[in-house]
Amino acid sequence: MSYPYQISSKEAYQQAYQRSVTDPEGFWADIASHFFWRKRWDKVLEWNFKEPKIEWFKGGKLNITENCLDRHLGTLGNKPAIIWEPNSPEDDHRVLTYRELYNKVVQFANVLKNNNVKKGDRVCIYMGMVPELAVAVLACARIGAIHSVIFGGFSAQSIADRLIDANAEFVITCDGAYRGNKEIALKSVIDDALVQCRFVKKVIVLTRTRTPVSMIKGRDVWWEDEVRKVETQGNPDCPAVEMDAEDPLFILYTSGSTGKPKGVVHTVAGYMVYTTYSFVNVFQYKPGDIHFCTADIGWITGHSYIVYGPLGAGATTMIFEGVPTWPDAGRFWEIVDKYRVNILYTAPTAIRSLMGFGLGPLQGRKLDSLTVLGTVGEPINEEAWHWYDEHIGKKKSPIVDTWWQTETGGIMISNMAGITPGIPSYATLPLPGVQPILVDDRGVEIEGNDVSGNLCIKFPWPSIIRTTYGDHERCRTTYFATYDDMYFTGDGCYRDAEGNYRITGRVDDVLNVSGHRIGTAEVENAINMHAGVVESAVVGYPHDIKGQGIYAFVIFQGSHGDEKLNRQDITLTVSRIIGPIAKPDKIQFVNALPKTRSGKIMRRILRKIAEGEMDKLGDTSTLLDPGVVDDIKDGRI
Ligand code: WT7
Repeated sequence: MSYPYQISSKEAYQQAYQRSVTDPEGFWADIASHFFWRKRWDKVLEWNFKEPKIEWFKGGKLNITENCLDRHLGTLGNKPAIIWEPNSPEDDHRVLTYRELYNKVVQFANVLKNNNVKKGDRVCIYMGMVPELAVAVLACARIGAIHSVIFGGFSAQSIADRLIDANAEFVITCDGAYRGNKEIALKSVIDDALVQCRFVKKVIVLTRTRTPVSMIKGRDVWWEDEVRKVETQGNPDCPAVEMDAEDPLFILYTSGSTGKPKGVVHTVAGYMVYTTYSFVNVFQYKPGDIHFCTADIGWITGHSYIVYGPLGAGATTMIFEGVPTWPDAGRFWEIVDKYRVNILYTAPTAIRSLMGFGLGPLQGRKLDSLTVLGTVGEPINEEAWHWYDEHIGKKKSPIVDTWWQTETGGIMISNMAGITPGIPSYATLPLPGVQPILVDDRGVEIEGNDVSGNLCIKFPWPSIIRTTYGDHERCRTTYFATYDDMYFTGDGCYRDAEGNYRITGRVDDVLNVSGHRIGTAEVENAINMHAGVVESAVVGYPHDIKGQGIYAFVIFQGSHGDEKLNRQDITLTVSRIIGPIAKPDKIQFVNALPKTRSGKIMRRILRKIAEGEMDKLGDTSTLLDPGVVDDIKDGRI
């Protein structure tokens, strides 16, 4: 066995699961004892879901980077920690050994210190997928600064909102980023955001694309210059700052059913233990394996399964700068063969999009190094599952369908590769430590099998969300108040006759577009910013590649242009306010929205129309003006 806590058989899984329920503290204490602690914890778990207050490994002192880097140096110093594949296959790749990564993290941690970043400060990171992004994240963790990574697809306004919410005084960015045939001017987006954020003291800019940038005196500094300063200081060491187990590690913003994204807070020890444990077990990582997670580090998947989980386990993790379809739709397969990737972890939307290119891009690709495949982000449809299984895994690599969320920090429900069986479109079984429960709308448990309900978790696991930054009450009402004494996931779920879980999708007003979470209220707010818009309602509809597309019903009173131009204007507005990822796929102009007598929009009806299920609208008699519905049906696009 490679890791003392690695589960190696179905029976061992069942045993571990049993123990995690009957003796959670003993179970997690055993796992946690395989990490490096400056001081051991006093109490494994203290919790109540009322407030909520959840403390794991209380009293423990540690630094996650000593676990991800320092402790591996003796055995893995010369082994690759990060393999970086650039956007263009023509450019040179880079390999950072554990020793090299350690040196870079220490060096950049000193850059942060020279720039006055202190423990507890919030640092916003807005970078492309370059190794320095992982270096920046780890350097923050080393000195106890709280990182808040923002995905490169968010607009200046979204960045400003997040900077303000977190009161982040430091920003780390790049001049630009390459993504396929595009060059994105990241620093320029930051500059637009900072017009609203005069409290930002320092912006550290890494050179990547040589896109022209405006460097503001006193505020903006070059990454390379700052590193040189540290070199002239003789490259001093940077001892890791001792953190409390429950000190915040990072904030990651995610959308909910209200207009304003929430800053999900994860803390050091529990997150470290759970991401490493789940990484090793779900993917059945073996030392030497090459793990390729195609997500962006701007999302939780990248935090947990590109950076922290793999490095916690001393694994080799890939960072890919590009996109699956450029220069052609064989890019992933080229990378898999080039590095002899063993574990490939990607999203159903990527699989569906690549399926659309047929088998041509697979010509001449061996893919024989692959042993484990994974998916995450949304339910995987059976067709995509089978394509992945047949053409990528050649029917010999187990597929792990991993269900989890930004708030859960790590994988919650999934089969374990080669240990517990996979079932197409099922996440299957909970990981040890995870206690799912299905409840009806009143919160009453739905017992037994072959049943559906709202998915909740009734007991804490180490990487559960601790708070929403700056607003604990919001954390309570969003996740812990819908149902008493349970964490509510927002997902609907079916449990089959054998007890396997199948996630059926969100039951709240949250869309999942290409595996990205977007709140309908957020998109509506953005659309309503457009001067000509009176009112709007946004719903999801099934989309062949994205999983869900965004359908907007808009009451428009502007007279500026024709319908096409108005649509483009609205789309641009959404791009400006949120980012290109939230652009509506369809915009239908309507005269009125279906409302109840109390003025509430009946989204159920709009959803059915958007889905094209016009004959299944149900009862429309409670509408103020049922005639509105016929007009909308007639105008459907
Ligand atoms: C939502 C969380 C967790 C990483 C990426 C998304 C949906 C996630 C699955 C899956 C069915 C899934 C859920 C969940 N989801 N994984 N394997 N099967 N649905 O993180 O942005 O926090 O979104 O994604 O609806 O609630 P996120």
